[in-house]
Order: sequence, then C-alpha cells, then structure tokens
Amino acid sequence: MAKEILALHGGPRAVTASSQDRWPHVPVEAAAQRIRELLEQGTISIADGSGIIADFEEAFRAMTQSRFALTMNNGTATLHSAYFAVGAGPGTEVIVPSYTWHASITPILHCAATPVFCDIEPDTLVADPADIARKITPKTRAICVVHTWGNVADMDPIMDLAKQHGLFVIEDASHAHGALYKGRPVGGIGHIGCFSLQGAKAVSGGEAGVATTNDPELLDRMVLLGHFGRMGRGQGNRTFDHLGDMSLGAKYRPHPFAVALAQCQLDRLPDLNRMRTRNYAILNERLRDVPGVEIVEPRPGCQRGGYLEFKFKIARDIAERVSLDAVEKALQAEGAPVAKDRYSNLNFTYGLLHKAPLFTTFDRKTIGGCFYDPVSYSAPAPEVTLPVTEDVCRRMLGTFAFVDVEEQYLLQIGHAFGKVMANLDQI
Ligand SMILES: Cc1ncc(COP(=O)(O)O)c(C=O)c1O
Repeated sequence: MAKEILALHGGPRAVTASSQDRWPHVPVEAAAQRIRELLEQGTISIADGSGIIADFEEAFRAMTQSRFALTMNNGTATLHSAYFAVGAGPGTEVIVPSYTWHASITPILHCAATPVFCDIEPDTLVADPADIARKITPKTRAICVVHTWGNVADMDPIMDLAKQHGLFVIEDASHAHGALYKGRPVGGIGHIGCFSLQGAKAVSGGEAGVATTNDPELLDRMVLLGHFGRMGRGQGNRTFDHLGDMSLGAKYRPHPFAVALAQCQLDRLPDLNRMRTRNYAILNERLRDVPGVEIVEPRPGCQRGGYLEFKFKIARDIAERVSLDAVEKALQAEGAPVAKDRYSNLNFTYGLLHKAPLFTTFDRKTIGGCFYDPVSYSAPAPEVTLPVTEDVCRRMLGTFAFVDVEEQYLLQIGHAFGKVMANLDQI
C-alpha cells in the first residue's frame, strides 16, 4: 500500500462514512409494551418462575436444545450456580482459561475451590484442549470453557477428556448466544451452559443471566442455591422436595422487566447473528490483504454467534517494535472506532487473570469467610505461565460487533488498518 500521510499528522482520514448502528439500543416499542403489560398486571416480581419467566425459559431451552433453562439476575450468578451444582468445593480444582472476563473464575472462589488456569488456541482464542489435558489432576472436578468473542471451544475433545476423567464441563457462553458447534447450539453441549444477559450481550435484559442443562439433578442443585420460591416446583428430579420452600438463600431470581427485555432481544437473535456474521466477513476480507494484521478465524465447521466484539491481532514482529497504544491512537485518528483489547492493559480487570493479585499474591485468608480451600490453600500461589495467552494479550485490537452499518463504512475501517500498517514509521 502507498505511502500516505497519516491523519495523526494532518493527512485525510481514512474513515469518512459514519455509523448509524442503532442495533445495540433497546427495542423500545416491543420492550415497553411487554413491560407495560407487566406493570398493568401488577407483576413486578415472580417468585415461582411462572409467566414471562417460564415463557423465556421455554424459548431459551428450545434455542439451546437443552432440557432445562433457569433464568437468573446475572451471568455471574449462573456461573456460581453451575460450580456449586457440579460439586466444586474445598479440595477440588476447576480448569478455566485466563483469557476471559473475571466472572468466569471468581465464582470458583465462592465455592472454596481452586481455579487452575489453562492456555488458549492462538487462532480462535478459546481454551486449548491439549493444555486442559495437561492441567487435569486427581483433584479436578470441572472444566469451564468460554466461547470467547462468539468463537466456539472445541467441544468434542473437551467432552471426551471429561468423560475419560469423570469431570463436568461448564460452557460460559456469555459472548456466544446462538453459536453452533458442528451444528449443535452452545450451552447445550456441556453439562451446564451459562449465559450472561447483561447490557452489551447479544441477548440482553440489561442485567440478567440464564443457565441451561440436560441434567435434572444439576437443575435441582442450581434451584437449591438461589431460587427460593421455585423449590419443589422445578422440572428436575425434585431431589430437595423435603426441604419445602427453603433454599440455601442466595437470591438469584431475575427481575421480570429484565426478562421481558431479554425476550425481545431473543426474538431477533437470528437476525442479529446473521448481520454480525456478514459484517465481520466483510471486514475480515478487507483485512486479509493488510500485511501485519491477523484475523481471528472461526473454527471450521462451526457458526459463530453473539460476538460481543470483533477482534484482530497485530503481527508479532510489529508488536515487538511498535507499541499497541501508538497503533490504537493512529487508527483512532483515522476515524476507525478501534481500541486496544482490554486484556492488554495489564491492569487485571479483564484478562491475564493468572497474573492478577487476587489469584497470585493476595492471601484470601485475610478477608475471612470461605473464599479458599481451608485444607490446601496457601498464598502466594505458584507462578503460572500461559505463553499463548500472554503473547495474544500484547497484540489484540478490537472494534464493535457492527450490526446495522453500510459496507462502505466497514471497508473504510479496513482501509484505515492498511494505511496505518503501511506507514508505521510515522507513529
Ligand atoms: C465471559 C463472561 N462470563 C461471565 C460474565 C458475567 O456476566 P454478568 O455481567 O451478567 O454477571 C461476563 C460479563 O461480561 C462475561 O463476558
């Protein structure tokens, strides 16, 4: 590509089209109508999971081809419930990638179990089955895979490992609503699927979450933890019927307004996924011609869904000589809405979690409560190195998971990458 003056230094901006992307905004009319109906009925809390909650669970169950769905107040609650349900507890370990949002991991501490970090595949950014296999010990109870940025973890070898070692698999599908692994919906493949329905997610209630499972006993255990009012009314085995209404009291019931909003978003998920897939393909086709940019490819035979964000890597040789901050600044000056991956901040709020003080130097005994295994816990934790995660975190850039945008806008973003990569001497 030709030498040009970067916008950073007064050259013309590569991106002149504007985005009118309205998709992430609330479907106001449909949501308002559903919420107004609830208000008129005086339905502002539903303890027994009936009505709009039952309808949403039926739709989500069908979408994930699962026997059961249990709606909650957020995705973190679904993960806590899942770890509790599979029996993560003192003396047990849960294998989980570090390349994720912290909520995939912190609920393991709520169960006083020990997170064991695994590396990711460099191309897809999801848990590497070979590294999972290396991390299995006699203490391993479960594996959590995260379908990061809508890319699907390689479920066949992971389920084989689980079967071989008698482990549970939890799918954190918070980025991947509607994604398919070899034709099978995510969330319905492992023992429990966990979906955040938080504001930015492809199906969102503002704040909500939903867990899916085929196993009635796991459903019962999730109800026992957090669903006073549904005890004894669930569709599971009713293992805990003799407890009457008493649950363990973590109140994970969702707000019906959030469920109404999530239902509106679920209705249009297929359209959302179709449009995001098209836009990602357009942008990637353009970026394929740009030396120095690596694309995060979908797993062959799988269908990405949800996405949350579109991600790209800067080639290693470039990342070694130019700072990611400088590349970000140059791209933004060109008008491209691109930001460094939050994982690259090294501030541990989102990513490189195996290096975060909470999992390394911090002595959790000092906070009291039960956030550690009282028998085997000691701090500081042994140092963990994850070569692929650490390499990728230094090189990631992302942009919005565009929905309703013109092709021209995407091509101009691709052009901005091309221009900056061809003129790195200016940054
Ligand atoms: C991968 C992943 N897991 C879990 C969560 C937690 O979900 P919530 O914010 O709904 O509690 C998030 C939220 O962003 C997430 O991205």
